[in-house]
Amino acid sequence: MTDLLVFGSSSLVGSHFVMTTRHRVMDMGQIDPRAEKLPVVGFAPIDLTDAARVEEAVRRSNAEVVVNFAAATDVDAVERERPRSPEGAQGPAFLINAAAPEAMARATRETGKFLVSLSTDFVFDGVDGPYSEDAGPMSFSPKLSWYGWTKGEGERRVRAINPAAAVVRIAYPYRASHSGKLDFARKIVDGHRRRALPPYFSDQQITPTWVPDVSRALEFLIDGRKAGVFHVASPTVTSPYLFARELLLAIEHRPPELTEGSLKQFLARPGTTPRPIRGGLRCTRLPAAGLQLTDWRDGIRQFAAERGDAG
Ligand SMILES: NC(=O)c1ccc[n+]([C@@H]2O[C@H](COP(=O)([O-])OP(=O)(O)OC[C@H]3O[C@@H](n4cnc5c(N)ncnc54)[C@H](OP(=O)(O)O)[C@@H]3O)[C@@H](O)[C@H]2O)c1
Repeated sequence: MTDLLVFGSSSLVGSHFVMTTRHRVMDMGQIDPRAEKLPVVGFAPIDLTDAARVEEAVRRSNAEVVVNFAAATDVDAVERERPRSPEGAQGPAFLINAAAPEAMARATRETGKFLVSLSTDFVFDGVDGPYSEDAGPMSFSPKLSWYGWTKGEGERRVRAINPAAAVVRIAYPYRASHSGKLDFARKIVDGHRRRALPPYFSDQQITPTWVPDVSRALEFLIDGRKAGVFHVASPTVTSPYLFARELLLAIEHRPPELTEGSLKQFLARPGTTPRPIRGGLRCTRLPAAGLQLTDWRDGIRQFAAERGDAG
């Protein structure tokens, strides 16, 4: 059993890991995750916009491994911080998504701790995905959201400062239950129940991530102290429209009434946040190491089974 210092235990993705890991978790964040009955051995408050405190906390920690799930994840809210140029960026999303991982990278390199930091397919502009693990995060452009750029900058800093760290990219994570925010799949179920489903894009390419795969992958990377960039996502691509149709079929057992929409047309409206159109992640490293990832159709079956909606 290893001692882990975890940032973001309460998150959609992190809380699954914390509930299933066999390691001992010390959490740092704004809200004590024990309020949500998460099995952490301790909690210390920290605001990740304070990079100097983050660096000091990681340096002082007795943990051998640091796992960073924390991020400013509200893509539209983060877009409102977008500057004209990334030079000298100082907004909260930049500090949380780029400067804090940099501080973690510096402190883990100096103390010999292993760092794993979560990232996203939004570091790519979505012109010609799915993207392989070797593809680097893209530079500042009108096609890339500010969220995507800040997360990509976090990746660049982690990889440059601590080459022994791991970066784990995921895409549209979903799980059967979570007491916090709704994810991609549970939003579909919720919208359907409220008879308020928006149109779902049929011209967007995505590779949704089954959250239990992330927890298994992290366990594997932590045990082997594996460095580099790793993708955890569906091995085949889908669209939000196809995914929503299959999901509602698995739950309702009859074809759903679902309207098709176009991301291309949506993005043509002024003031919308850029999102990858032909996005998605190609996963090669973890499957090559023997860790099979869940295809989106199997993920839907497991999602329905865990919720008691399956056949
Ligand atoms: N959700 C997605 O669609 C998606 C897609 C691809 C990749 N990812 C990546 O996966 C990881 C987890 O995402 P998620 O959606 O599971 O996250 P989430 O549910 O939105 O949770 C965000 C976490 O960040 C922490 N946090 C935010 N601001 C903080 C601050 N100033 N100081 C300290 N902690 C702070 C929060 O802790 P407190 O509650 O204590 O504030 C919370 O635990 C992130 O790296 C994200 O970029 C997410």
